[in-house]
Amino acid sequence: MKSSNTVWHCATVTRERREAQNGHRSAVLWFTGLSGSGKSTLAHYVEEKLHGMGCRTFVFDGDNVRHGLCGDLSFSEEARSENIRRIGEMSKLFINAGVIALTAFISPSHEDRQKVRDLVGDDFIEIYCDCPIEVCEERDVKGLYKRARAGEIKEFTGISAPYDVPRSAEIVVDTSGSLSLDDCAETIIACLKARGVWL
Ligand code: ADX
Repeated sequence: MKSSNTVWHCATVTRERREAQNGHRSAVLWFTGLSGSGKSTLAHYVEEKLHGMGCRTFVFDGDNVRHGLCGDLSFSEEARSENIRRIGEMSKLFINAGVIALTAFISPSHEDRQKVRDLVGDDFIEIYCDCPIEVCEERDVKGLYKRARAGEIKEFTGISAPYDVPRSAEIVVDTSGSLSLDDCAETIIACLKARGVWL
């Protein structure tokens, strides 16, 4: 429950001053897709490239965040919504910190992603990691699909829980393996350039 006794304190070091110092605008690169679709791999790869270009960056990874900040949340619909809400708020803080935040969460609900989009505004760039479930399941890097098929993991996205394919993602990357990681990353960086992220 939000307290009514709190007042927003404005920073004197503003987002604009931070951005001017950094030489680039802040943004949220929101990677969404099935487990095993390559969100984290691609987000970290793009971060490496941006870091090499002198950008201030940070990756929020679903699995990692669920060890701490969101360690109290399950995979029920409500808990996933809360997970995404927290990361949305965190992303907004990072925008004010002048950072390019890259987030790698399944974020299966269209409605939850839309709420983050509304919260963050024009700086929200949705990146759909488009990979068929058959390919994700074949990869099964963490062995979770096998366990989900065996009924050991409930509400597993793509198997026993839904994934809403993005309707209006700024970027769609084919992460099924037909493109190289570098090609996928270049598509994203080209989009950032076109949007005037560098000052
Ligand atoms: S989200 O749906 O709330 O956005 P998030 O990205 O944080 O999910 O976490 C997904 C990761 O948790 C998956 O990559 C997988 O490793 C693990 N996981 C564990 N249980 C589930 C489940 N029931 N559904 C999907 N992923 C799960």
